[in-house]
Amino acid sequence: MRRDEKATLVERRALSPDASLLCFRSSFLASALRPGQFTMVRLPEAEGLLLRRPYSFCDAEPDREQFSLLVKEVGRGTRALARLPEGAEVDCLGPLGSTFTMPAPEHRPVIVAGGVGIAPFLAFSRALRAAERDATVLLGGRTAHDLYLREEFEALGMDVRCATEDGSFGEKGRVSVLIDDALAGPVQLYSCGPTPMLVKVAELARERGVAHQVSLERRMGCGMGCCLGCVVYTSEYVRCCSEGPVFDADSIQWDRDRHPL
Ligand SMILES: Cc1cc2nc3c(=O)[nH]c(=O)nc-3n(C[C@H](O)[C@H](O)[C@H](O)COP(=O)(O)OP(=O)(O)OC[C@H]3O[C@@H](n4cnc5c(N)ncnc54)[C@H](O)[C@@H]3O)c2cc1C
Ligand code: FES
Repeated sequence: MRRDEKATLVERRALSPDASLLCFRSSFLASALRPGQFTMVRLPEAEGLLLRRPYSFCDAEPDREQFSLLVKEVGRGTRALARLPEGAEVDCLGPLGSTFTMPAPEHRPVIVAGGVGIAPFLAFSRALRAAERDATVLLGGRTAHDLYLREEFEALGMDVRCATEDGSFGEKGRVSVLIDDALAGPVQLYSCGPTPMLVKVAELARERGVAHQVSLERRMGCGMGCCLGCVVYTSEYVRCCSEGPVFDADSIQWDRDRHPL
């Protein structure tokens, strides 16, 4: 059940020169959200920002009535959100979209994430930990700065492995250099990040016969299935905001559906 909720910014933490973790108070959203879902955020005071912007729920603490968003500044909307003063209120429509599903007991979860695609996996890792499941978390970025929340995944006891394109942390190269080793044995793969990374991960998973859930990003106008601005090609057109953002990666026709952004 989604609602349009007021959420108050209670804390901001810089994660890198252009990314922040924003912690909001909303008792409803903190309890209702499920890993993989997202919210459409409107900044009532931001002039000229007509459309809401989509953000994955990053983490939730229902006991404290709080949830967090990881925000990377790429344009006007993300910049305005990242720079909100503490105490400000935003309108959050949510929780929206589909969720990651738990791996079968015999499958080891392997998470592959890059950039802001790391965001939805903190809540998911927390759910895995609550179910006493261990996961391998492969994080990729251009530099060490982009390996957001690495320490939080480690604190949850996840097996975290990193790759950076400039070699400043972990293996040198894209996160795909880490995948081969991680796919040994029965595995359930989860991914979110830049489309070239997702295409590569989907290819490797398909070659190895590994089940793979992928979270996709599209430009979104409404977030509720009305505007058809976010379609993804499977065997037919589906809406990323309402049938997704989490899909079975094998259902995506990657060659017909390169990222439109
Ligand atoms: C389901 C979903 C979950 C997301 N989760 C997060 C998250 O957790 N943290 C986060 O920082 N961002 C997330 N995004 C991306 C975020 O919504 C966009 O970066 C944001 O809408 C850009 O708004 P803007 O006004 O800052 O940029 P604009 O001024 O609109 O555009 C600036 C640049 O951002 C690109 N852009 C615009 N919309 C998107 C989009 N939807 N996805 C990717 N690039 C875009 C544009 O092509 C342009 O290059 C998510 C997107 C979706 C669809
Ligand atoms: S964003 Fe409007 S239909 Fe998906």
